[in-house]
Amino acid sequence: MNQTAVDCTHGLVGQSPEIGSIRRLIQKASRNRLPVLLLGETGTGKELVARAIYNANGHGQYIPIDCGSLVSPLMGSDLFGYVKGAFSGADTDKRGLIELADGGTALFDEIGDLPFEMQVKLLRFLQEGEFRAVGALHSRKVDIRIIAATNRDLRAEVAAGRFREDLFYRLDVFVIHIPPLREHKQDIPLLIEHFLDQAHASGLPALRLGDELLATMLSYDWPGNIRELQHCLDRMAALSSEGALQTADLPSALQPHAASSGLRRLSDAVEHEPLRKFETAPKSPVVSIADSEKHTIANALAATGGERGKTARLLGIGRTTLYRKMNEYGLEGRTCPARLAFGILCDLRPDADGRPIREPHLDPHRAQRPSVSHARFEIDPLTSRRVDQPQLLTGSTAAGSSVRRKCVSRRHPAK
Ligand SMILES: Nc1ncnc2c1ncn2[C@@H]1O[C@H](COP(=O)(O)OP(=O)(O)OP(=O)(O)O)[C@@H](O)[C@H]1O
Ligand SMILES: [Mg+2]
Repeated sequence: MNQTAVDCTHGLVGQSPEIGSIRRLIQKASRNRLPVLLLGETGTGKELVARAIYNANGHGQYIPIDCGSLVSPLMGSDLFGYVKGAFSGADTDKRGLIELADGGTALFDEIGDLPFEMQVKLLRFLQEGEFRAVGALHSRKVDIRIIAATNRDLRAEVAAGRFREDLFYRLDVFVIHIPPLREHKQDIPLLIEHFLDQAHASGLPALRLGDELLATMLSYDWPGNIRELQHCLDRMAALSSEGALQTADLPSALQPHAASSGLRRLSDAVEHEPLRKFETAPKSPVVSIADSEKHTIANALAATGGERGKTARLLGIGRTTLYRKMNEYGLEGRTCPARLAFGILCDLRPDADGRPIREPHLDPHRAQRPSVSHARFEIDPLTSRRVDQPQLLTGSTAAGSSVRRKCVSRRHPAK
């Protein structure tokens, strides 16, 4: 990994137009003292942007205030401080968060969670630029750059009567919308590189991503945004040894997505590769998801000669998931030599009328006799019907008889 390749201006990693425009807004915001409102889903980087605005300006202290954790009876004193004797237990004067932020920047994080009664006090403070500590006789003027952040829809909160409209308009001045990660997925590879570098710098193994895993991560929507991506990589780095991370290393919460994206990739590969030996999904205007999944798994099994481990890797899903789905759809994996495909090929003996019988003949004496005729044909894994003409083979079957028994699908015997 090459740390210098990662563009980290203002601490933001990414080269997308979205990140570029946030960098420009940070720069503009740092040139004035207007209140800034940061809007965006959880984990998109609101706090990172708030800090970047402060860093670009560099005055005074940066005081983050978690509005959701301000507890009712203490809210006023936490924010504005108190004077000695203001209430029992107030043995000395105490400075509040607002006073600490004087000359610097205060981030009102999760402003949407600020209790209603506190919204009035904050509004007054924003309008007058002064506050009064609990128990104090006089107000004090302060100069603070206010940044507010929330993942809530503040307009909807106003409409629902949970957020004061006057406070909303006071804050709605210099607004920065931080897009969810799914809207700037092109930054994912750089972010991955950045977080893996960080993990390595903290003493975890040096890791890179396998192509399949990268494709899976690019196709995921990351509802928890960049924080979810970061935690996912940290977890994988903590549990893995040096080398390339694979889809199987993903946390269990992402495995269902890995399974479906593996199936999608395989379907695409099948669609776009006409020379593939195995069939594509049935061409019907509407195919149920279950049918298409069953068909894709069957195709993958056929493509790998029925090897379950290989199939799971090809599909980008865990073995357990593959086994469960095979069970669900009545598909059987290969327990026979490589030249036979997984249970869709079976050797059958002709009956007295020359028709192939359903179960392989298991009589060891007859099976060991040389020159016994056998019909060999394929069974479509979806319909369990024969798909090609029986082909008469001759030869000893001693070695193959137990193999054939395992290969015949017992759940979906050929009709
Ligand atoms: N563009 C980025 N480049 C690098 N790291 C980022 C970027 N955006 C966010 N992060 C990282 O993602 C994590 C989450 O970011 P942050 O805490 O700022 O999100 P948030 O929007 O405040 O989330 P929440 O609403 O849940 O509080 C942090 O570790 C942050 O450093
Ligand atoms: Mg935050």
